[in-house]
Formats: sequence, structure tokens, C-alpha cells
Amino acid sequence: MKITSKELRNKWIKFYESKGHKNIGAVSLIGDGSTGVMFNVAGMQPLMPYLLGEKHKDGTRLCNVQGCVRTVDIDEVGDESHFTFFEMMGNWSLGDYFKKEKTAWSFEFLTKELGFDKDKICSTVFAGNDVVPKDDEVVEFLVDAGVKRENIFYLKDNWWDLPGTVNTPCGPDNEWFYPRHDTPCCDKCDATCECGRWVEIGNDVYMQYKKLEDGSVEPLKNKNVDTGFGFERLLMYVNGLTDGYKTDIFVPVIEYIEKASGKSYEENKETTKAFRVVTDHIRTATMLIGDEKGVLPSNVGAGYILRRLLRRAIRYATQLGLNVENLCEISKIYIEEIYNEAYPLLIEKKQFVLDEIKKEGQKFEKTLEQGTREFNKLITALQKFAPDNKKISGEKAFRLFDTFGFPLELTAEMAKEIGFVVDEEGFKAAFARHQEASKSQDKGDAKGGLAEQNEITTRMHTATHLLLAGLRKMFGTGVEQKGSNITTERIRFDFNHDAPMTAEQIKELEDFVNDAISRKIDVERLEMSFAEAKKNGGYGVFKADETEKVSVYKIADVDFQICGGPHVKNTAEIGKFKIVKEQSSSAGVRRIRAEIEG
Ligand code: SER
Repeated sequence: MKITSKELRNKWIKFYESKGHKNIGAVSLIGDGSTGVMFNVAGMQPLMPYLLGEKHKDGTRLCNVQGCVRTVDIDEVGDESHFTFFEMMGNWSLGDYFKKEKTAWSFEFLTKELGFDKDKICSTVFAGNDVVPKDDEVVEFLVDAGVKRENIFYLKDNWWDLPGTVNTPCGPDNEWFYPRHDTPCCDKCDATCECGRWVEIGNDVYMQYKKLEDGSVEPLKNKNVDTGFGFERLLMYVNGLTDGYKTDIFVPVIEYIEKASGKSYEENKETTKAFRVVTDHIRTATMLIGDEKGVLPSNVGAGYILRRLLRRAIRYATQLGLNVENLCEISKIYIEEIYNEAYPLLIEKKQFVLDEIKKEGQKFEKTLEQGTREFNKLITALQKFAPDNKKISGEKAFRLFDTFGFPLELTAEMAKEIGFVVDEEGFKAAFARHQEASKSQDKGDAKGGLAEQNEITTRMHTATHLLLAGLRKMFGTGVEQKGSNITTERIRFDFNHDAPMTAEQIKELEDFVNDAISRKIDVERLEMSFAEAKKNGGYGVFKADETEKVSVYKIADVDFQICGGPHVKNTAEIGKFKIVKEQSSSAGVRRIRAEIEG
């Protein structure tokens, strides 16, 4: 390593101290609530009031290295340069120096302190719009500083503001670029090329406007500078690396995973991705739990993000054969070896951090295996019954969430890996329905096997009649219903039988039900005495006095069951019937889970 992470951090601070800046240190990773942005996503975020004009106690020249969390790109983690936690090296002028000094210092830092080749450094600057003119001024300063004129490009996008906020500072920016290697992709491969050769290594924003609610801008009293250089990225490039995980921030962790898993980091694409996800997510989880505001896993806000990170880390750790103990070891490496100097609070909170990772990890580890099995079954069933359907319904995604704690995003990611998508709107609807159902159950509204009574559960209920008829045909009329529980997601049906069903039997049963559905049979409701019903072959769990009038539902020659309803008018309304699981319920009782589609 030409420069270690600890050296780079110190270099930044020393350099800007030498230019009259005060090191203000880092604050919590959690936003202060003033902007509505959950985490600090940029070093300037905590400084917003001062960029808008408030006086800072440490003067008008400030610098620091600030931890940031950005999880919008969480799915990108796994490549060589996306991280959910990263540090931003920043410096600010609060109405003090402006473009002349800033261009010169950024160039000096890159070339003199870090040894970047001055002829390869490129800059992009603001191309202007209807309100703010193009930034010709900064171009002249850049040239004076030493940037080659032909390496400077105007772009319309060179404007920075904090996304999702209003009444916040913003302005044109000057982004610094450096090539990853010296082989252009084509004749036009300059800093604006998106071939991947050019990487942004830093950003100087000239914050002289305020973003208003209607999207327009007004000039600020002060002309400020807001600089942010990506720490991990710079560390990687200054050391001539193209993989961020090969910097000294991660090497001890990668080596530990190699040792613990017996796998090599570069074994194959999947393994490399799993290494990176575990490495990245445990770092961010460590930082969030160990933060001064101490985030804990939960189902809302920052706690939910933390939970997602931990669960995702566990899933990938399992692929590598690692367990929760290993994840705690990784966290310990970050705390004791890597961030011990820059984040001393982590040392103080070490045991707390490790305990939380362990608690959440153990909770999830248990259900992960079952849930993954459930997920795989779901896919197998879809492939079997609807090979063209590459969409997992919201109901099913919700069941994975509700029963196995799979965050929607995890199901979506697992689905994506095998070319499926999840109906996310459907998930939200299922979630809402579930909340309603729980509310009515709380109120004691649940009736019989139907927690809710609606069109879907009605269709499912008639399906259970066909199901039981099929079972009796296969295994004899001694088969009875031992339990039935229907929700909008699924049928759960128990019956007496003393051996697991074979795959052939399951298929035969499904075919029996689907055959009755495709025959479009009218479901007739007859009324007669209980005695008469039984005499005519009526059966069911329904019990009454011999003379009492009961309803019998007749489905042609298929079924004749005494029942309180509700039922569809014609079997065609049921839709496609599928058995998703057959398992033991208790001694001599089997349980079928089935679903309907359409
Ligand atoms: N706010 C700018 C950024 O985040 C520069 O610090 O890129």
C-alpha cells in the first residue's frame, strides 16, 4: 500500500489545517431530523444551517472526515465500489474563500499529496441553464491551478443539492475525475464517457443558492464552498487498485472470511459477491449500532434498514458456510483493528454491538432455512403450474414476510436472482388486508375456518369440498376433515390419514380438484333434515339433531357435504387449485396447504 487508510485520513485533515481550517470532527450517522433525510448521506448535511448563513462556532473554514450511510444502492453492493457506509472527506468555506482557492487546493492535494498524474486529471463543470449561467469562471481557475484545458468538460448535470429536501443550499459543482486505466474504449473516451474507465473522485460544490419548495432557486447571502471527496474511492485509486475491498479497510476482514469459510475471495463471481456483501453490511451494522445515537434492529425507520442489512448479511454468510459467531468476529475486527482510532466510541460500545448482532442474527438464522425452503417450493410450484408466470404474488411474498421474517426486499432479491419479480403493490395490499384481518380477529369476528369472509375465501372454501371429496375417493370414505383454516393467502386443511402422500398422489388429488373446476359445475344448495342428508350420503363435520334442517352443498356427482357455507355458485369461479405443501399435522393427521390462482 502506498498510503494506508489511517494515513489518508490524517493527510486530509493536516492539509486543510495548513490552509487555515478547523477540524470539527464527525457527528452521528443519523440525520438530526431537520431535513427529513434519515441518515447523513453527505458530509455537508449536518452543516446545512451554516451554509444557509448561521454563524459556526469554529469559524468560516472547516474540515472533517464524516461517516455517511446510503442504502439506496444496497442492491448494487457486491460490485467493487459500492458501499452502504462510507466516509466523506470534507472541507467548507462559509462565505470565506471561493473558486480560486478551492480549485488550487483540490488540485494540489490530488497531485502533490497523493501523487495523481496532473495531465490525467479531468474536471467537469456546470454547463448552465435558464437561471444560472455556465461556469466559465471556474474553468479559468482550474486552468490556472494546473488542469489541462482540454481535460475540462461542461455538463448540464453538474449541480448538487441534497435530494428530497427543500430550503437547503445548492449550487453548481466541479467534479474531479481520474481514469482507472490508460486504455480508452473509443476515440471519444473522455471524462464524460460512461464506459467505466472514468471515476469521480471528488466534488467541489459552489453553494450560493437555496432550493425553494417550487423547485426554483434564490441566491444565498454567502458564497460557500462544500467539498466532498470519497474516502474509500480515493484510497483505492491512490493505491492503484480497482477493487475497493482490497484496501486495508477490508483486507483483514476478507482474510478472516477466507480462513473461516475455507473459500477464496476470488473463487468465483458468486463467492466474491457474498464476501463483499457480508463485509460491507457488517461494517455498516457495526457503525449504526455503535453510533452515538445507537440504532437497534426494528421494523421501522433506521432500525428497519439495520435489520435488512443484518438479514442480508446472514443470508450471504450462510452461502459461505459462516454463522452469526463469525459475523460477530468480523464486527470485532472493524472495532478493534480498523476504526479503533477514528471511532473510539466503538471500543466503548463493543460488547453492546456484538450482543445486538448476535441477538438479531440468531433470531433470523432460525427462520432463514425454513423460509428459503418455502421460497424454493413456491418457485417450483410456479414453474410447474404456470411456467410462463415469472411473478411472485404479493400474497406469497407477504407470507414469507409474515411467517419467516423475510423483508420484501430480500424476497425480491432472491426472486431477481432467478429471473422472477415480486408484485410489490400486491404485497402492500396483502399487508393491509392482514392488518384488517388481525383487527377483526381481535374484535372476535373470526368465523369457523374463515378468518375473513370474502370472495377469495369463499372460492377457497368450495375448493376444500372438492379437496375432501378427492381425498375420500383416493383413500376411502373413512377420511374426514380434521381442521380447516382459510385466509386470503391459503387453505390449510387437516385430514386423517396415516402416511405421507406421494408426489403422484398429490398430483392426482390436484388433478381431481382442477378437473371439477374445469367442468364448470353448478354448486347447489339443498335444504333437508340432518337425518335425510345423511341418508342421501351427506357427510361433514357439521353436527345437528336428526330433525334439524341443514344445508347440503351438492357439486354434481363429485361432492355432497353438509355445511354452513359460504360457497361459489359454480366451480369455475374457484380458479386454478394448487397444493403447495403436504406434511404431518399430528399423529395420524396430515396437513395440506393449498392455494388458488386467478
Ligand atoms: N455535497 C457534495 C457531495 O456530497 C460535496 O460534499 O458530493
